[in-house]
Amino acid sequence: MPAMGLPFTHLTSTKQLTRSDTDATLKTAQEMEGIVHKGGCDLLRGKILASLFYEPSTRTRLSFESAMQRLGGDIITADGIQFSSLYKGETIEDTIVVAAQYSDIITMRHPEVGSADRAAAVSPVPFINAGDGPGQHPTQALLDLFTIQKECGKIDGLKVAMVGDLRFGRTVHSLSFLLGLYNNIQLTFISPKELTMPAKVTSFCKEKGISFTEGSALEAALEADVLYMTRIQEERFTDHSEYERLKNVYTLKAAHLKGKKTIVMHPLPRVTEIATDVDALPNAAYFRQVRNGVPVRMALLAMLLGKA
Ligand code: NCD
Repeated sequence: MPAMGLPFTHLTSTKQLTRSDTDATLKTAQEMEGIVHKGGCDLLRGKILASLFYEPSTRTRLSFESAMQRLGGDIITADGIQFSSLYKGETIEDTIVVAAQYSDIITMRHPEVGSADRAAAVSPVPFINAGDGPGQHPTQALLDLFTIQKECGKIDGLKVAMVGDLRFGRTVHSLSFLLGLYNNIQLTFISPKELTMPAKVTSFCKEKGISFTEGSALEAALEADVLYMTRIQEERFTDHSEYERLKNVYTLKAAHLKGKKTIVMHPLPRVTEIATDVDALPNAAYFRQVRNGVPVRMALLAMLLGKA
């Protein structure tokens, strides 16, 4: 495998990536798919990933662990704030320095925005953000990009609609920044008015001259090449009655997609925003998207460890 690497040690945000970084990551991920098909390799033999999940996770955690094992590496884990030293008052900084004594690379999910930057600032080993509250989720955005390229055969020139909880959904923030690296992307942001895309994303689009429209009707998203649905993020609401009022605001049904080629993506877990009758349609890319998490995380682990 050619040594392409990444020009940084820690991955906390998609804003730090350039087009050549995404090109290198997607190319390495494609090579990693071949390794998965062959049943794995020994590229990271002897390396240990510390996997720290202080917020619930199924896919991200399992796919990081699967990725490390497919590369011949090992994993040590800690989860649940209530069972960790963080609960006893330890700072994120101390937890990271400690975890680095046991491992060669660290990934962490934590409920606070900015926790990933704090961790990266002190980590003596490569650090990967696996989600910092409603902030960023860069590895998800890279696997989303990989999925878009596989499903549509290209990224430049696509119309991408994002629907649902754009305020608290970290995956759509991270993905918007990445799409901004491509040419002639048209973004459509559909959400209830309480959950619109934050200014950090809309002002980025304005600065970069990326075309975007905002609205609240699902119908406006159905003509896109990619329809990226998101879950209303219950855990981020301070007023639960507001969540109850908004939780079923959008439900994509098979009937909406009749005669359309639109690819439907979702970072999962889904609640009610995609009806199960969509699952059988060729448009439904979300389970294929999940699968792509492994080669993309293999690529990132190998590249940050200087092995690809
Ligand atoms: C997402 C997340 O954690 O932000 N899930 C994931 O990583 N697959 C989306 C979500 O929880 O809604």
